Amino acid sequence: MKTHNERLLIVDDEDSIRDVLTDFLTMEGYSVVSASNGIDAQKILETESFHCILLDLKMPGMSGLELLEIINTLAPESVAIMMTGFGTVETAIKAMKSGAYDYILKPFKVQEVINLIERGLKEKRLEQDNIQLREAVELYDLSEELSSSLEMNVIYDLLIDTTRAQIDADGVALWIRGEDDNEEVCERRWMRGTLEASHARQMLAIDVGKIQKRFIGDESLIIHGDDARELIQDEDAQTLSSLFLVPLKNSDKALGFLVAFAFDENEKFLEGKRKMLTVLAGRASAAIENAALYSNLKTTFKQTIQAFANLLEDKDPYTHGHSHRVKKYAVMIAVGMGMSDEEVELISDTALMHDIGKLGIRYEDLNKAEPLTEGEYEMFKSHTTRGKWILQPIPFLHGLIPGVYHHHERWDGRGYPVGLKGTDIPLAGRILAVADTYDAMTSHRAYRRALPHDVAISEITAYSGTQFDPEIVKVFLREIKMDAKAQKAKAQRWQTMVNETANEESKLPFGK
Ligand SMILES: [Fe+2]
Repeated sequence: MKTHNERLLIVDDEDSIRDVLTDFLTMEGYSVVSASNGIDAQKILETESFHCILLDLKMPGMSGLELLEIINTLAPESVAIMMTGFGTVETAIKAMKSGAYDYILKPFKVQEVINLIERGLKEKRLEQDNIQLREAVELYDLSEELSSSLEMNVIYDLLIDTTRAQIDADGVALWIRGEDDNEEVCERRWMRGTLEASHARQMLAIDVGKIQKRFIGDESLIIHGDDARELIQDEDAQTLSSLFLVPLKNSDKALGFLVAFAFDENEKFLEGKRKMLTVLAGRASAAIENAALYSNLKTTFKQTIQAFANLLEDKDPYTHGHSHRVKKYAVMIAVGMGMSDEEVELISDTALMHDIGKLGIRYEDLNKAEPLTEGEYEMFKSHTTRGKWILQPIPFLHGLIPGVYHHHERWDGRGYPVGLKGTDIPLAGRILAVADTYDAMTSHRAYRRALPHDVAISEITAYSGTQFDPEIVKVFLREIKMDAKAQKAKAQRWQTMVNETANEESKLPFGK
């Protein structure tokens, strides 16, 4: 006898048909259960699952078509085959349109039924293999995307989007444990647009403590009905039908969890997706931990740059605040040019570090009222090369080198250290040249007092196209004008507020 490991349900009001089919199909190796009417079949389907269901079209009480509706809800994965007599073929075709796999005409030869079942199950297996393959490919693509992302926000969005697409949830929320307080915070929440405020309330009211207690190991779990509603601290929770809980953890450390909500009794989450979400959560957890490490590294990087900038300015009272002001102007230009956040950040860091090479130079020799000798000037000029030399051994500061090394190049090629010309000069160098010169002119130096803003602006304009990139000068002039306007408006607002407060106070009976 063959063994199929596949379960069949036969629903027919005729005893003889049920008996014959049960005997033959059991001999074929199937595990067979039978019911004599739709109501009994429904009860069986509520607790058991079947690969294939053979059902009679004409039955007293509940018709085959009505039972088919129930099968579509309770056992959508099963292959449903309708058994029908002559004269009802049209109805049988209607049944196929409603989701039945095929129909067979009575009276039939048992072998025909066996062939049909085998064909149906084979197609179903193929379909499921395809689904699994598609899921595996999707999961692979997603893993690639997750592991290539070091941005926490991108990872969170990917997790939410994938979960809602994979399990067709009404709502998904991502809870992440904070580094310091070890408390979960809801980082992302998505809800189907058609849902009501009461659903949003339920999503907000999950009992984090109770959910955590449910997790054992790394497995995700699906909870239905009252069991699920138990985890929501909201009296509206009556409408919740099931919860999908996915723990996020790494080497024993809990990172948080993902929770998906189904509010419709007909849209309960299916067991088949559990494995997939567990794997997804594993990948996401690794990505979250990587992103956290990267973020720490980035903080260290920022602190290092800040420390260098402070060290530099400590050495020279005349350039106090210079790096920070150059950063402000450089960022102004970068934003004005429409650069991406990352590019702006790089320009900002480079600006803070642009004169780092001066750390190797004796300031006493350079900060003097008299003009520099030729030797002193050469030493001063070497700060660009020294800057590159200081950054070179530190790989995570390499991105800053182009701006640091080339910020004294000139548009006409007569600058240093290389003498690059036009757009051959790295963009960061061209931006810094304008920002650096404007700040140098408008702040005090050992050998002269600060120049007024207007004079500095006309100097920059005069050297546009010779010393400076004309496009960058254009952006700088526009942005600094806008900034001045914004500053003026802010000052005016303050003044108005101060005046109003003074007026109000003067109205008080005893003055201030
Ligand atoms: Fe410089």
